Amino acid sequence: MARTPIVAGNWKMHKTVLEAVELVNALVDKLENVKGVETVVCPPFTALWPVRQALADTNIQLGAQNIFWEAQGAWTSQIAPGMLTDVGCKYVIIGHSETRGRFGTVTEDLQKVLSYFSETDETINKKVKTALAAGLTPIVCCGELLEERKAGKTDDVVRKQITADLAGLTPEQAAGIVIAYEPVWAIGTGEVCDSPEANRVCGVIRATVKDIFGAEAAESVRIQYGGSVKPDNSAELLHQPEIDGALVGGASLKADDFVAIVKSAL
Ligand code: 13P
Repeated sequence: MARTPIVAGNWKMHKTVLEAVELVNALVDKLENVKGVETVVCPPFTALWPVRQALADTNIQLGAQNIFWEAQGAWTSQIAPGMLTDVGCKYVIIGHSETRGRFGTVTEDLQKVLSYFSETDETINKKVKTALAAGLTPIVCCGELLEERKAGKTDDVVRKQITADLAGLTPEQAAGIVIAYEPVWAIGTGEVCDSPEANRVCGVIRATVKDIFGAEAAESVRIQYGGSVKPDNSAELLHQPEIDGALVGGASLKADDFVAIVKSAL
């Protein structure tokens, strides 16, 4: 069964409402006739609703950048699953390295991130289950730090993350999610992971899904690569057999760049 490629733009903390609407209007225009690749934009929470309105009746899907596991309550600053479906989200990014903390050794850079967000595999797992229960498709991020890569621990790290983050899912649920392999050292650095290596690690992730959920789930689950994806490197990455799309940060903020990346998946 052929997997439909999925290219998602993670806008992170960029774009006012006006800028967001301007960007999606440009995308709608340029991607109107593109078929065979699923396109998703993940604006900041403040722009979800206006972007949703601009995307009505188009082939571009809406995603959020995080979710909380409670349905409602005294959780200052958090966003409930029902709030995301209410504004028309279909996808939600979970466990991005910019919100994820780690068990074990904490580097100085990571300490800064940890002190803000402290997201663990356990809370990521809760969020994945919550998203699925709400009818959202999680885009579950995983990936190693530079020190972990240098120490030859990449495969172990992604295996452990995926095993913990997807614990307790049914094979059908696992088959329908999206996993993003984002080596942390490649994010926002311009230092892309070379295509054969990105393909190899995505293969490790697929094999992990197979071990836990079986061959059918492994065959169906879509695995993206993320980390310094640009128009000039996307075609090679996206044509690797184990890579089913991209999670794009910086280059998703410019319509022409993002459109070129989406088209390179065809
Ligand atoms: P860049 O494409 O800016 O490296 O960001 C990747 C990313 O973190 C997407 O989630």
